[in-house]
Amino acid sequence: MAARAMLTIKSLTSVLQNGAKSAGLGLVAAYSRGLQTFTLPDLAYDYGALGPAISGEIMQLHHQKHHQTYITNYNKAIEQLEDALAKGDSAAVVKLQSAIKFNGGGHVNHSIFWKNLTPIREGGGEPPKGSLGWAIDTHFGSLEALIQKVNAEGAALQGSGWVWLGLDKEFKKLVVETTANQDPLVTKGANLVPLLGIDVWEHAYYLQYKNVRPDYLKNIWKVINWKYASEVYEKESS
Ligand SMILES: [Fe+2]
Repeated sequence: MAARAMLTIKSLTSVLQNGAKSAGLGLVAAYSRGLQTFTLPDLAYDYGALGPAISGEIMQLHHQKHHQTYITNYNKAIEQLEDALAKGDSAAVVKLQSAIKFNGGGHVNHSIFWKNLTPIREGGGEPPKGSLGWAIDTHFGSLEALIQKVNAEGAALQGSGWVWLGLDKEFKKLVVETTANQDPLVTKGANLVPLLGIDVWEHAYYLQYKNVRPDYLKNIWKVINWKYASEVYEKESS
């Protein structure tokens, strides 16, 4: 479909250029809305590199199957959206919103999640330094207090969803929030920027931790990439 869209744009450009030539115009300015589809991002580490906190089996399935499925369905939905927009079919546009939110959210959230993790030998679990470390102490008392709050909210979240550490850019403060299903953090506030998101869907832990989500939450901190969260914090809070 993406290839088809590209061809359509190319054909349109060709028609416009030929038309411009025949009209004696040296230059044609055409605006085409290109359709960008999405592909599965590579991980910066091997599937087995987060063990024993998160098994290689979970990581591979989570990345190759679950994340890929969100991307596949997201691409399908935005291609359908493009068709609906081209036809001026408002009912179809509105009907697609939930699929776009769910699958697009799944893609956005998982893309952040992979960056929030890193093997212990590459700094996983090392407490944040610099301004994020200070901000955590200021807002939560200590890193340990923040971890307890995230774990408590993540464990209490009913059904599937995410628990986040975010930066509220308007009030310049750190917040802990949860979102249901695949809702991104921004659905809780337009000024919220995700620094750290933990996937608490069963597919993120069940093969290893069965139904004991609190154990998964306890262990995931051993492979959290605070360096990445600190970089986002510094960029977004400056
Ligand atoms: Fe997931």
